[in-house]
Amino acid sequence: MCGIVGIVSGRKVSGMLLEAIKRLEYRGYDSVGMACIAEGRLATKKDIGKIGEVDKKVDFSSLEGTTGLAHSRWATHGGVSRKNAHPHEDCKGNISLVHNGIVENHNELKAELQKKGHFFASDTDTEVIAHLIEEHYHGNFLDAVKAALQQIEGSYALGIIHAKHPGQMVAARNESPLIIGLGKDENFIASDVPAILPYTKKVTYLGNREIALLTKEKVEVFGLDGTKRDKAVEAITWAAESAEKHGFSHFMLKEIHEQPQAIAETINGRIQETLITLAKELNFKDAELKKIERIIIVACGTSWHAALVGEFMLEELAKVPVEVEYASEFRYRDPIIPPDTLVMSISQSGETADTLAAIREAKKKKAKVISIVNVKGSSIARESDAVLYTYAGPEIGVASTKAFTSQLTVLYLLTVYLAKLRGVMPQDQVSNRIRDIRKIPLQITQVLEDKENILSLAASFSRHSNALYLGRGINYPIALEGALKLKEVSYIHAEGYPAAEMKHGPIALIDKNMPVIVVATKDTRTYKKVLSNIEEVKSRGGKIIAIASRGDHEIAKKVDHVLYIPENSYILAPLLAVVPLQLFAYYIALKRGCDIDKPRNLAKAVVVE
Ligand code: F6R
Repeated sequence: MCGIVGIVSGRKVSGMLLEAIKRLEYRGYDSVGMACIAEGRLATKKDIGKIGEVDKKVDFSSLEGTTGLAHSRWATHGGVSRKNAHPHEDCKGNISLVHNGIVENHNELKAELQKKGHFFASDTDTEVIAHLIEEHYHGNFLDAVKAALQQIEGSYALGIIHAKHPGQMVAARNESPLIIGLGKDENFIASDVPAILPYTKKVTYLGNREIALLTKEKVEVFGLDGTKRDKAVEAITWAAESAEKHGFSHFMLKEIHEQPQAIAETINGRIQETLITLAKELNFKDAELKKIERIIIVACGTSWHAALVGEFMLEELAKVPVEVEYASEFRYRDPIIPPDTLVMSISQSGETADTLAAIREAKKKKAKVISIVNVKGSSIARESDAVLYTYAGPEIGVASTKAFTSQLTVLYLLTVYLAKLRGVMPQDQVSNRIRDIRKIPLQITQVLEDKENILSLAASFSRHSNALYLGRGINYPIALEGALKLKEVSYIHAEGYPAAEMKHGPIALIDKNMPVIVVATKDTRTYKKVLSNIEEVKSRGGKIIAIASRGDHEIAKKVDHVLYIPENSYILAPLLAVVPLQLFAYYIALKRGCDIDKPRNLAKAVVVE
């Protein structure tokens, strides 16, 4: 989705803006632009294409000035064209602004403004904001923006500069994320943390319907009614280098390799010898947690797959009934949330519009919400009653990898914690469960050591146009996740199915051209059934790759290829089984020459419905 950066400084800003907007490339975009104020005049450069290509054409760093904005656009209103790229200006060319979000009443506002003689240069909803500010401007920049925002319905993260106020920047937010970075003799705005990491680690989060006036010396935040807001300053703990590739050819590959560390960080501090300690973070009384009769988990995409694994963990070990819902469906369904139901959300970005709307719906119905989130200070984190953070560090590759396994780790810790608290797991089992999760980082490292094998397998499968992923029980969501990874990065059509469902339809697809990837780790309930499903595929000529438990030599006789993962308790198998599937998708996409970190049409955080 669109990226925003703004800087007010004592030094020239165009080079810094360029670096900062490049750090948001992973969000997905189709055009890029920059505007700076020099000698009381605005200068703008923008075009469609990748930042590097556009920069070659327009030379962003040639823009002079100590106040400026940059934007990477992911088209919503108005096609992909130079005129629709941000920043946008008013009629006189004094006001320049960048915007993420959607102005819902832009048609009415545009018609009114046109009647008053305003001329529109683009087809975007954003441009109306520039003309509205122009309309309200009588010498005070901040007041003009405040007045304009009173008329706007919809979502916005805005950075605005005015040629007559060269040392100032106004920023505002409603529903779309915007952070303010506090530097030394310079201040920043950004839609996402990685943009400003090289310049400052001190941030403050703008709330909904808040507006900020930035100069290089200070930042003041107000409500739209003009009341001053005291904002907490928070420290970002991510290192600037964690948003860099470190010799890996792609962020996705780097992030796959970071999983042992991400999981270790996520466990760290939450296990004390033989106890899991989540009480402080959970922020609920033990009595409240004991009383929970049902959990509803809402999420989207990969996080929704994590929720399905969580459902299995929580029902199996903590004996709590769980329902998993697509956040986008839950929000429009008038869902029934009886008392003593806990609503959980899972989100890497903490900004997914549907998930945010789902937790708001839950809170409207008086439910308590716990969220599992990776990005600190994100909207979902701030609006939840309690947050369990994943400590995966910044995830830049659009395809989620380390965030997923970190989410599974949190779900597992929460499961064991609740099971103990609710008296359904004796202490000796708690100790065993802790021992099991502690093994995972090293075991993932062992899976990663098998990457040459996965690479050569990927090479021989890269020309197929379809793939079927099968799994049962706790591995069924891993089949879904494997299929999602393959389709999003390699554009190969892939479907995930519960293995036994295959014979109710998808079996018709199977022939020698259909690769079937079966997650077949050993467990006491479904393993034998999965072997029968494998036979069904084999007898129809399908090419089978199995993800199997190390030491299972029997399966090797039944399938074309086996990728082994180390043995652990079956409830933790998903954390290991997903890793070869991530690598398989990655290497196939590499072979096919795809844009792995920024797959077509996708964005890292889906902040629109
Ligand atoms: C897939 C992927 C998406 C996200 C989904 C939810 O690799 O990344 O499916 O999982 O858009 O995003 P978050 O977790 O940020 O709410």
